[in-house]
Amino acid sequence: MIKPHGSDELNPLYVQDDAKRAELVKEAEGLPSIVISSAAAGNAVMLGSGYFNPLTGYMNVADAMGVAENMKTAAGLFWPTPVLNVVKDPAAVKDAKRIALRDPNVDGNPIIAIQDVEAIEEITADQMKTMTDKVFRTDDTEHPGVAAFNSVGNFAISGPIQVLNFSYFATEFPDTFRTAYHIRKRMQEFGWNKVVAFQTRNPMHRAHEELCRMAHDALGTDGILIHMLLGKLKKGDIPADVRDASIRKMAELYFPKNSVYITGYGFDMLYAGPREAVLHAVFRQNCGCTHLIVGRDHAGVGSYYGPFDAQTIFHDEVPKGSLDLEIFEADHTAWSKKLKKVIMMNSVSDHTKEDWVFLSGTKVRVMLSNGEALPEEFSRPEVAKILMDYYQSDAAKD
Ligand code: ADX
Repeated sequence: MIKPHGSDELNPLYVQDDAKRAELVKEAEGLPSIVISSAAAGNAVMLGSGYFNPLTGYMNVADAMGVAENMKTAAGLFWPTPVLNVVKDPAAVKDAKRIALRDPNVDGNPIIAIQDVEAIEEITADQMKTMTDKVFRTDDTEHPGVAAFNSVGNFAISGPIQVLNFSYFATEFPDTFRTAYHIRKRMQEFGWNKVVAFQTRNPMHRAHEELCRMAHDALGTDGILIHMLLGKLKKGDIPADVRDASIRKMAELYFPKNSVYITGYGFDMLYAGPREAVLHAVFRQNCGCTHLIVGRDHAGVGSYYGPFDAQTIFHDEVPKGSLDLEIFEADHTAWSKKLKKVIMMNSVSDHTKEDWVFLSGTKVRVMLSNGEALPEEFSRPEVAKILMDYYQSDAAKD
C-alpha cells in the first residue's frame, strides 16, 4: 500500500488506548482551557484522524508562513496550507504550558484535545495578508474562505496535541465519518492497492458518477474511495446528510457491489481552490489512495480560480517528488446529446454549445426549489428525488 505522507507509518494523534484517553480526559478538566475556532477544531479532527500525518500539532507562525509562501515548513516538510490554532484572546491560557482545547461546534464546548504550548505568537497584519494572498490567491473578504480565515483572531498557539474525540462528526455521521487510519485498514482488508479518491462537497450527479468510472477504468484501480467533506460549508451548499444519502443511493444502484467505499472526513471547506486540491492530495495519500480525481474548478468558489488551476498547481508549483499520490486530471464533463452519454468535453471536436446538457449549481437549486424535475441526462432520478425532497422540506428554507 502507498506510504503516508512524510513517514513510513501513519501516526494519528487521537489517543486510541481507552484507559490512557480516560486519564487524559480527567487531566484535561483541571487544565487552563480555551474555546478554539471551528477551523482549529477541524484541524484537531484531521490531526487526530491521521489525515494530517506527519504533523504533530498546530504550526507556529514561521511554519505557517513557510507553508503559505512555498508549501514547506521551516524543517522542509512539504505541506500546502497553514494548520493553525488561532484565537482572538489568549489570556485564559497565557503562561500555561499544557492546555485544554474546547470544541466550539458541540453544545457545552467539551474538550476536544490537549495541547502542549510551544509558543503563543501574535500574527502581524502583514503576515495575515501574505498567508491569505498565497493560500486563497485573493484577499477579497467576500470569498468565504478568506472571510473565515481572517475572522478567528491574531494569536497563534502552536505545539503538539493529543486528540480526545472527533467532535460532532463521529456522532452525527456514524456510518460515514471515518479516520484515515480506519480507511487504510479497511482498504487493506479489501485487498485494494491502487485506489482512486473522489473528493466531494456536493451530491453526485451523472458527471461526477462518470468521472469516477472513467478514472477507475483508465487507471485500472482496485476500487474508488468516495470521500466527502462533512464540515461546514457556505450558505446554499447541500447539507452533509442529504448529500450522503444521495451518494449512497447512486453507488448502490449504479456501481458494482464492493467497488466503491463511501466515507467522509471532518473538516470545514476552505474554498481555496488549487491549494486545497493539494491538501486534498496529501490527505488522500494518508488514507491510502494512489490517485485523486481533480476536475473542473476543484474546491473552487465563484470565479476566483481558473477552471483548471487546481490541476496546473501540481505541475507548476508542487516540487517533483513531494507526493507519491498522482492526480487524475479530468476535463469538464457533461452529457453529450449527440452521443447520448456523459463524456469529457475535450474528447470530441465536433460539438457545439447546444450539443451539451449544462446546469449550473444555481440553476439546479432554483429548479429543485420550484419543484421542477432535473433532466435525467444531468441527474439520476433516484438522486434527483432525494434532492427534491430536501428542497421541498422546511430544512432547505432555513
Ligand atoms: S469540490 O469543492 O469538492 O471540489 P465538487 O463536489 O463539486 O466540489 O467536485 C468534486 C470533484 O468533481 C472535483 O474534482 C471537481 O473538479 C470535479 N467536478 C465536478 N463537476 C465536474 C464537471 N462537470 N466536470 C469535470 N469535473 C467536475
